[in-house]
Amino acid sequence: MGKFLLGIIVTLVALILVALGVATLGLFPTPANVEPSHLERHFAMGAVDASMDRHAPRLTNPLMPNDQNLIDGMKLYTMNCALCHGGLDRKPSTLGNSFYPPPPNLVSDPPDDPEWHIFYTIRTGVRYTGMPAWDKALTPPDMWKITMFLSHMDKLPPAVQQYWKTSFGTSPEPENKEGMKDLSHDHDKDHH
Ligand code: HEC
Repeated sequence: MGKFLLGIIVTLVALILVALGVATLGLFPTPANVEPSHLERHFAMGAVDASMDRHAPRLTNPLMPNDQNLIDGMKLYTMNCALCHGGLDRKPSTLGNSFYPPPPNLVSDPPDDPEWHIFYTIRTGVRYTGMPAWDKALTPPDMWKITMFLSHMDKLPPAVQQYWKTSFGTSPEPENKEGMKDLSHDHDKDHH
């Protein structure tokens, strides 16, 4: 039994030394302009989701999903998030392919998570990724408005759809469902 334990400890120490060696010798890759492997994405996203499920409080949105709040959310999204997550004009986002892991395009592929989950992601960010924590930059009501906009994107009331059309020159409804399907093929299906 003693030998067995010793074996485990020696193995652990050896693994730690190898990891330290890999790090100090500069063997860990740092470029962010490449795609994470499927395996890495799968495990990393699983870990992020599991951690959120454990830590995020199950809050309900304190604001009413009325036209004004949704339009405010749309504006706040455009000012703060579109750069990385894709604009409402549906043009490719400027920085969409410049992160490791890449930011999901939230306009072509709106999150289907519950609002408490989206709110928590916005408020606390995602460590070791390009996703900032917004709690110091935005007020809770503003973060709830963005959350509301994202979770209602496929069921926006007519006035909000009209605002989207006149402001961004595109329809909130994807014009070409086939095209959208093709786009989502590129997306990691294990994401959610
Ligand atoms: C500087 C770039 C950047 C900005 C600005 C940014 N994000 Fe992100 N965001 C990311 C990256 C990168 C990820 C991917 C993190 C990951 O894979 O875990 C991400 C992930 C997310 C996710 C998680 C998606 C999922 O699959 O669960 C949500 C939701 C999100 N961001 C919302 C927002 C909102 C809302 C804003 C604006 C308030 C915003 N982000 C601003 C880079 C950004």
